Amino acid sequence: MTMPAVSPFVPWIPTANRKRRHVLDLDDFSAAEIIDVLDAATSMKEVLGRSVPQVPILRGRTVVNVFYEESTRTRMSFELAARTLSASIMSMTAKGSSVEKGESLIDTIRTIQALGADIIVIRHGESGAPYLAAQHFKGSIINAGDGRHAHPSQALLDLFTIRERLGALQGLNVTIVGDILHSRVARSNIWGMLRCGMQVTLCAPSTLIGDVRMWQETFPTLKISYDLDAIIPATDVLMGLRLQKERMHAGLLPTLREYSTYFGISQARIDKLPDHAIVMHPGPMNEGVEIMPEAADSPRSVIEAQVTNGVAVRMALLYRLSGEATI
Ligand code: CP
Repeated sequence: MTMPAVSPFVPWIPTANRKRRHVLDLDDFSAAEIIDVLDAATSMKEVLGRSVPQVPILRGRTVVNVFYEESTRTRMSFELAARTLSASIMSMTAKGSSVEKGESLIDTIRTIQALGADIIVIRHGESGAPYLAAQHFKGSIINAGDGRHAHPSQALLDLFTIRERLGALQGLNVTIVGDILHSRVARSNIWGMLRCGMQVTLCAPSTLIGDVRMWQETFPTLKISYDLDAIIPATDVLMGLRLQKERMHAGLLPTLREYSTYFGISQARIDKLPDHAIVMHPGPMNEGVEIMPEAADSPRSVIEAQVTNGVAVRMALLYRLSGEATI
């Protein structure tokens, strides 16, 4: 394929359409748009491999990270993504800001808008907070995780990593095992994976699956299993999820040891996967609980690649919004 030259400094990016205003979840992404983002991220990964990894795509634009919850990967990779695209980047955490004096989310968003932000990347403990922010901001909002609802950039970097490692998405069997009930990563991945023609099975103790009828009504092809060992041999992608103790308000598990015995990703379970299968985890991990250290470090593990790929995928998202992001 001939790559049209844009400038010697700007990569060829196969994303002609930059009409999206916000990235709030993957429920409004078609398969074609997901693939478009992944293709753009492939070009962005080439940029990141250069000796001077910087392109002027977002020069003059301002990206603001607004994090009401803790983060290492998402916050730092959005920061690196914005810098690599030559945007100005500012960061705000709830701790140490006027949020601690009681400033509302809407007033915070308006304040950031008055400072000249074009794109706000927001993480918030309340499901739906980025949607409220989007109603009060003239630029673009990216949801960097809201409560237990959605984490679309994580799901896209997961899809990117799967395609990079296994060559395709269509037809793959994915097992998502762990604390489904509290997982925004699972929810966004389910939307994205099903759109891309993957078969998804959720696996957890019944107390951590959530409302089975809701799952079946929303996603008729979604499978649910309570027996990890039974589904491991037919799994192409095994994705572990963190037990989110900070969101558990009731005793949902008898003991961590029992949970780990039946649902933990161990070397013994990895040995029963097909030879090509990969092991994923969005991080941060509770090693020794949902995943054993030897499993996290095994050659099947792509956990570090997920983190690395997050920068390219977030560059692709910022690029995709850049056509609509000037306030
Ligand atoms: N996966 C993820 O969202 O990690 P952080 O909480 O470190 O951003």
